Amino acid sequence: MLIKESFGPADFERLVDEENATASRLIFTDQSIFEIEQEKVFTKAWLYVGHDTEIPNAGDYVTRQMGLDPVILTRGEDGNPRVLLNTCPHRGAQVCGTDVGNTKGFICPYHGWAFGLDGELKATADDKELYEGKVDFNTLNMTSAAQVGSYAGLIFATWNEEADSLDDYLGDARWYLDLFHNRTPEGMEVLGPPQRWVVNTNWKLGAMNFAADGPHAVQVHGPITAATFNVPPSIFRDALVDSPAVSMGNGHNGIFTQIPEELKDQVPPYLGTYPDLVPVIEEHLSPGQTSLNRHLLAGVTTMFPNFSSVQGAITFDTESLPVNFLGIRVWQPISATETEIWNWFLVEKEAPQAWKEAAAKAGVRTFTPAGTFDQDDAEAWVAINNGISGPVARKGDINFQMALAYRDKTIPDFPGPGRAYPSNYGEVTEFDVLLEWQKYMKS
Ligand code: FES
Ligand SMILES: [Fe+2]
Repeated sequence: MLIKESFGPADFERLVDEENATASRLIFTDQSIFEIEQEKVFTKAWLYVGHDTEIPNAGDYVTRQMGLDPVILTRGEDGNPRVLLNTCPHRGAQVCGTDVGNTKGFICPYHGWAFGLDGELKATADDKELYEGKVDFNTLNMTSAAQVGSYAGLIFATWNEEADSLDDYLGDARWYLDLFHNRTPEGMEVLGPPQRWVVNTNWKLGAMNFAADGPHAVQVHGPITAATFNVPPSIFRDALVDSPAVSMGNGHNGIFTQIPEELKDQVPPYLGTYPDLVPVIEEHLSPGQTSLNRHLLAGVTTMFPNFSSVQGAITFDTESLPVNFLGIRVWQPISATETEIWNWFLVEKEAPQAWKEAAAKAGVRTFTPAGTFDQDDAEAWVAINNGISGPVARKGDINFQMALAYRDKTIPDFPGPGRAYPSNYGEVTEFDVLLEWQKYMKS
């Protein structure tokens, strides 16, 4: 593939080669492709914007991004979440400049126009009479997202009026989201504001890695896994090779790494879960969900396009019980080669305070910029960016050809919906993110 000034649907047919399970390196580096995907993916798909527990009360708000567009996620007086494009209909200034707060409405800093929580223009700073009746102020409300929805406390929004409902968009993935986000009667709560940091790489590399890249895990995380999960690399590898990966449909994918068979007797079920909550979870989830969850070592998922979730249990010292972290994150695109990671941790609302603090600590130690796992991953993703950006290197492909061996091997009696494959090493689910991306780019 040669460098081009512009790309069309026929190019995107070639840029991801489904038959050979390869993709052009350009889709991770080319800024003109990045601009097209901002339109074709990020204004069309459902995007994660925040957690219910970040805005518990009427008037609570947080500022977020939907692709390159700044938005305000707020809770209205009616209790419903709303998403407003954070730009003033007057001269375009960002109306809300703070990360989080509670308000009765929003006042633009430039000329003082005031808007309600629903984005309706309430007042201009100057007397409307000065407009001499020549302006219809009903056309000057803030723009709302076309649809806002939530599942298990996770709030998503889309600019696409014609998009399927969020329930249909998530589809079978809801069964898997339940394992992490809907496993107790009260559900999950977010542990504080997001950690944010920039990695010099394309957003798709993180989304694909969490969808998930089994083979990298032992290579880059093996030593730290031995230290923090107490799992030697050889056992970690066997666990990954023998555990399921699932394509849930609509580009949503994940892996569910199981405790190896020979260790199941030595490891308590629901490793890393607050012990009193184990029977609560068993009761709340279906028998099929329970069977996948009981011996889970780690679970990693991506909801297309850029929302991921990761769970694992770590020990702080040999005396203490392992504690699960549950991280959620958005791979926030900045440019073709820059991504801001927005990262939160969650815990069961029913857990005691000390356990919640331990869960947050487990998360910070693993999946944050100071965390061991994110440092491992970021180094690899930046290495990819450095490796594929030059004029010679960018003409090549990126390879997912383990998928050729695994894509026809589904597990017939798997307890969950979607297509389940027998190995975290298969690269099928990772590549599936790009196949979904290709569908959007060809549209
Ligand atoms: S730009 Fe917002 S009031 Fe003028
Ligand atoms: Fe990783």
